[in-house]
Amino acid sequence: MNLNDCHNFNDFRKLAKKNLPSPIFHYIDGGADDEITLKRNTEAFDKCDLIPNVLTGIDKPDLSTTIFGRKIDMPIFLSPTAMQRLYDPEGDKASARAAEKFGTMYGMSTMATTSIEEIANVSSGPKLFQLYIHKDKSLTDDLIERCKRANFDGLCLTVDTIVAGNRERDHRTGFTTPPKLTLKSLIEFGIKPKWVFNYFINKKFELANVKHITDKGTNITKSVIDYVNEQYDPKMNWNDAEYCIKKWNGPFALKGVMSVEDAKKAIDIGCTAIIISNHGGRQLDGSVSPFDQLKEIADAVGDKIEIILDSGVRRGTHVLKAIAAGAKACSFGKMFLFSLAAGGQAGVERVLQNMYNELERNMLLMGCKNIKDLNNSKIKFRK
Ligand code: FNR
Ligand code: LAC
Repeated sequence: MNLNDCHNFNDFRKLAKKNLPSPIFHYIDGGADDEITLKRNTEAFDKCDLIPNVLTGIDKPDLSTTIFGRKIDMPIFLSPTAMQRLYDPEGDKASARAAEKFGTMYGMSTMATTSIEEIANVSSGPKLFQLYIHKDKSLTDDLIERCKRANFDGLCLTVDTIVAGNRERDHRTGFTTPPKLTLKSLIEFGIKPKWVFNYFINKKFELANVKHITDKGTNITKSVIDYVNEQYDPKMNWNDAEYCIKKWNGPFALKGVMSVEDAKKAIDIGCTAIIISNHGGRQLDGSVSPFDQLKEIADAVGDKIEIILDSGVRRGTHVLKAIAAGAKACSFGKMFLFSLAAGGQAGVERVLQNMYNELERNMLLMGCKNIKDLNNSKIKFRK
């Protein structure tokens, strides 16, 4: 199996599984507790159907949309995700370059293995930085200042991860940052010699944006769950979010808003966007899927704030349904991470090309010439 055989989520996942040591594969693939929410995130899109219009005479639909003050050429972008160096030696650089090539946004995690500055050097494409508020508050100012200097377009503050979700697969595999080479893991890692070779001959693994404030996760091995619980501030509140907005003074989103009430508060404190997300089902299992909340939130505040839908997106038609229900764009994590593990930058380019093709084809089949045409009249929720 190779990249040319990858046509959908399951194909990329299968190839990623072949390439990655199992603790790393399961870190990407898994969710919290019983993984009910993880499954529901994608199933939610099947509760409604698209209503096409015919004979519209459209030649080439315009897939562009504007988020965080920046026009992107297709309405899906790369969610910020941790530790991409483990999935491909080029990690975030590969993702950022692929996103730029497709004129879409790359999201960088606070827990990235490539620094803000390194990414600014390799990409002038649209860039979003994702902030985690650590107990060491000096880091918040430091990251925001660095993003300003590096010309990032927008900032998002993740609000659904004040403590780590219970990811039982990670408990079982013993997944850590950096990867721990115990006898058990060596056997596991040893059966993926190409990965081991690439891991050791390439640049040292580090949590590049935070290593100057803590050795944990870079030189001191930690499970991700312990890292999150030790480092992040569980008391984070609306004042902290407002502080970040003022300090950044530019396009700003809360990532992980799930209720109309919180969406309204986000507007009150000055957010320009919200990312409706449950962290891909990795945090609160049993929580509602973002798509199931989308219409209600969009009906309440969609004219006052940009809405981005994240979690569970696997198909172009999922993106079209989200836009018809009120989102301006979608973002995805697992799908592009598997493509990164499947084929590095070429893998991410392939997943974006597939998405582009699906979006363009299905916009034509819908009779929609641009994103604005995709409104509530194009979608029917089943009773
Ligand atoms: C994530 N996600 C995430 N979110 C965030 O705000 N900061 C982070 O560092 C990470 N890290 C991370 C690692 C991995 C391996 C995954 C799979 C996810 C969540 C991510 O941004 C996004 O919300 C979800 O991935 C969306 O769900 P799907 O597309 O994976 O179903
Ligand atoms: C995760 C954290 C790091 O989802 O956001 O693994």
